[in-house]
Amino acid sequence: MATSISFARGAPCPEALSGDLIAACTRDALAADAVRILSYGTGHGYPPLREALAAEHGATADQVLVTNGSLQGFVFLLETLLSPGDLVAVESPTYDRALLQLRLHDMEVLPIPVDDDGMVVEALAEACAAGRVPKLVYTIPNFQNPSGATLSAERRRALVEVCDRYDILILEDDPYGKLRFEGDAIPGIWETAGPGRVIFTSSFSKTVAPGLRVGYLVSPPDIAATLAAAASRTYISPALLSEAAVSQLISAGGLQANIDTVTGLMRERRDAMMRGMRHLPEGSRCVPPLGGFFCWVTLPEGVSADALFDDAAAAGIAYVKGSDCVLEGGERTLRLAYSGVSPAEIEEGMERLGAVFRDAAVASR
Ligand SMILES: Cc1ncc(COP(=O)(O)O)c(C=O)c1O
Repeated sequence: MATSISFARGAPCPEALSGDLIAACTRDALAADAVRILSYGTGHGYPPLREALAAEHGATADQVLVTNGSLQGFVFLLETLLSPGDLVAVESPTYDRALLQLRLHDMEVLPIPVDDDGMVVEALAEACAAGRVPKLVYTIPNFQNPSGATLSAERRRALVEVCDRYDILILEDDPYGKLRFEGDAIPGIWETAGPGRVIFTSSFSKTVAPGLRVGYLVSPPDIAATLAAAASRTYISPALLSEAAVSQLISAGGLQANIDTVTGLMRERRDAMMRGMRHLPEGSRCVPPLGGFFCWVTLPEGVSADALFDDAAAAGIAYVKGSDCVLEGGERTLRLAYSGVSPAEIEEGMERLGAVFRDAAVASR
């Protein structure tokens, strides 16, 4: 069988992972601060990294919790700030693991549709007006996982207005925002809202390396203390060596160059993926993402990404079913991650995937 090509994993390609860079950062970090790095720390994470992140986000270090990946921070938040049965608004579609965690924690999920400009905030406002007021709104504003859409500046302001009116907490999850291919960055929700309204979370998994497992949350001080207590109960302190390597990368001024390299690699892959769309059946739809890792495809009527998942696997192609990213429906949609594969693999993979989908389109006529 032909080699398999995975469009399923939202991970950077091997070329984006610099072993030499991380080795140098780790060595320099240890040379400067070995005893602290190799000891137990507190649940909050490595202090110099917390300081650097606080400075970036206009916060104080006690507002920053560095976790073993940002998904861990999301779970701490569900465990400590919410209770089973609480209503949580999410974009529909949203990040499949976040949806899974919400389900595992018995949250009630309020799906808010996404269009080309991100979450349709008007739909959230209508739900609130009808008495369905969530405790938390979870949004991925930039190059969303899985839709690739970016929340417009106007909608960010509207979201803050709705959440102010109904006193709703916002979780802004932004691991992709720095990987922008075109256009200007849009001010974040954390910057747009008043104090106390937003928890910001991000990660170095996409901009540096997922194996480091370094993510973080910036929150109002009382929430940060609650989250840090959960971290301390769970793992005493996070992996300080990874955090120290990231901290060193930032203090030595190397992070932006790495982001530029990764952005260039991802742009090439996005372009290859968009070229590859010509293999999909007529009537397929995909809006080119302006950054990040993902393309979201809607197949024509009669062609089900769910039903064809196994056929695609037999052709050596993996993707994420859109139906895993929504509460119900989504059978004609799929997420294609171009991040982890080469442009040549993207062309080959899209050709094979296109053949599977085109055969089904013909059969459905
Ligand atoms: C939107 C979003 N949030 C969080 C994560 C988890 O990242 P981490 O590796 O920091 O746990 C991902 C990874 O795919 C993601 O896409």
